[in-house]
Amino acid sequence: MVEQKLQDTQTRALEEITRSDSLEELNEIRIRFLGKKGELTGVLRGMAAFSPEERPRIGQIANRVREKIEEKLDDRMAQLKEQVRKRKLEAETLDITLPGTVFGPGRLHPLTAVTRQIEDIFLGLGFSIAEGPEVETDYYNFEALNLPKDHPARDMQDTFFITPETLLRTHTSPVQVRTMERTAPALPVKIIAPGKVYRRDDDATHSPMFHQIEGLALDRRITFADLRGVLQVFARQMFGEDTQTRFRPSYFPFTEPSAEVDISCVMCAGKGCRVCSHTGWLEILGCGMVHPRVLEMSGYSSEEVTGFAFGMGIERVTMLKYGIDDLRLLFDNDMRFLAQF
Ligand code: DAH
Repeated sequence: MVEQKLQDTQTRALEEITRSDSLEELNEIRIRFLGKKGELTGVLRGMAAFSPEERPRIGQIANRVREKIEEKLDDRMAQLKEQVRKRKLEAETLDITLPGTVFGPGRLHPLTAVTRQIEDIFLGLGFSIAEGPEVETDYYNFEALNLPKDHPARDMQDTFFITPETLLRTHTSPVQVRTMERTAPALPVKIIAPGKVYRRDDDATHSPMFHQIEGLALDRRITFADLRGVLQVFARQMFGEDTQTRFRPSYFPFTEPSAEVDISCVMCAGKGCRVCSHTGWLEILGCGMVHPRVLEMSGYSSEEVTGFAFGMGIERVTMLKYGIDDLRLLFDNDMRFLAQF
């Protein structure tokens, strides 16, 4: 009787295994026949009903049945796994004769390239490169540049304040002060300071984050003529030998006298066009002779030392150099634009 039952169980199990066609189904069969509450286990549980002489024989049969089923399960599992693998391979549409993805060489962003060109020109003139923090104190950004708290010129440079005394710097001019504090009273000082600056502006020609390069030269007998000469050399090297420069009187609290510098229009060579609003000139920077009060606050004697300073916008120089008409193109990171440089 029991033998017959075990034989039946084996027959059914083997049939089901042969018919199964997924790993899940196979697992389900394994549990149903061999699991803790499975059919075969059930038979063995009933062993108590047999006489002690019979038990080993039936146990042996039961074990053989278990082994058979397990063997069959393993075989079928291997078959099914192989099927799955084959199907996956067939579904794969890999064509190894197709050309691979081409990663072209990288290139510098136009702003980086122009920054380096400007740096190279001034390094050639004996300047070295200085840096300062983008999160700046009110003291360095304004106060030490002769812009006390109630100064109306602060309105032109509204920015992002972090605390009442710390802010995102509105210009690279604080690097002048930081440099002077570090070097005073040593002379000469000749530095340029490139970097990011921030203002509350956002349109086709203004971005809330942009870049400037500051310049500072101090010595015993520096004059406005030195300033003119240096900026003239710069303009010619940057925009071409025929470039003219023109100085217009202006106002900055940290320089006296102050000037704005124009170059002859790079598009029309001064004849007048849309880019220069038919004036023939393009404004590129602000500059002047360092204000005596700024010198004194930073540790230099305004009796013995004179100097010039300037600050220019790198986006503006880049746009003029390459004829880019919308500042935002520089920040969109569209490869169709960037790949042109
Ligand atoms: N810091 C000024 C600005 O952002 C630019 C400037 C003007 C810098 C005159 C200077 C300078 O060093 O002498 O508008």
